[in-house]
Amino acid sequence: MVKIAPSILSADFLRLGEEIKAAGAAGIDMFHIDIMDGHFVPNMTIGPSIVSVVKKITDVPLDVHLMIEDPDKYLDDFIKAGADYLTVHYEACVHLHRTVQYIKEKKVKAGVSLNPSTPVRNLDSIIEDVDFVVIMSVNPGFGGQGFIPQSLDKIKTLKKIIGDRGLSTLIEVDGGVKPDNAKAVAAAGSDILVMGSAFFGSKDYASLTKRLREILR
Ligand code: DX5
Ligand code: ZN
Repeated sequence: MVKIAPSILSADFLRLGEEIKAAGAAGIDMFHIDIMDGHFVPNMTIGPSIVSVVKKITDVPLDVHLMIEDPDKYLDDFIKAGADYLTVHYEACVHLHRTVQYIKEKKVKAGVSLNPSTPVRNLDSIIEDVDFVVIMSVNPGFGGQGFIPQSLDKIKTLKKIIGDRGLSTLIEVDGGVKPDNAKAVAAAGSDILVMGSAFFGSKDYASLTKRLREILR
């Protein structure tokens, strides 16, 4: 079953607790939490203290996406805050193998994310070590952007590599996913669909989730 991961970046932060409760009650699979530092991406969001309060009010797994420079410095903070899945960017890590091993040693699922201009082949020497790969289908930094069509080919290429090597690595797709393209994105080979603006911009999270389950069946 393809997993649905609403990105709280598009939630109403004034009512964040209620938003988390409502999305959780709708039956989503994980919360995607976007961490931005104003350096790696031209935007800033939240830090570990917000992740830890979200953790306190939900049992839904937390998928923390670090769009920050030098992520090694902050891994412990986000692990302590309650990340169940933790993603670093390929482009932000000098010693990616070490970073991935560290996350896994802490019993957290380790993800590596690729910007739209980074080819899938760059993962050749690390793919066996990661639990999941995040294909960015927009340039990271903002919610509500349009899905970059070439991302579909990247997902297909990655899916083939994973299959050929007999791995169980999951593919997560992040950016511009909505009910209209969810079927195509899943058919290309994704296992987890992040959905920010399309999810939290909808009026009724439960009926949207139900509709997505039907689309993705
Ligand atoms: C973009 C973030 C995404 C974003 C997705 O930099 O990594 O997770 O919240 O939002 P939508 O679904 O609106 O593109
Ligand atoms: Zn994200």
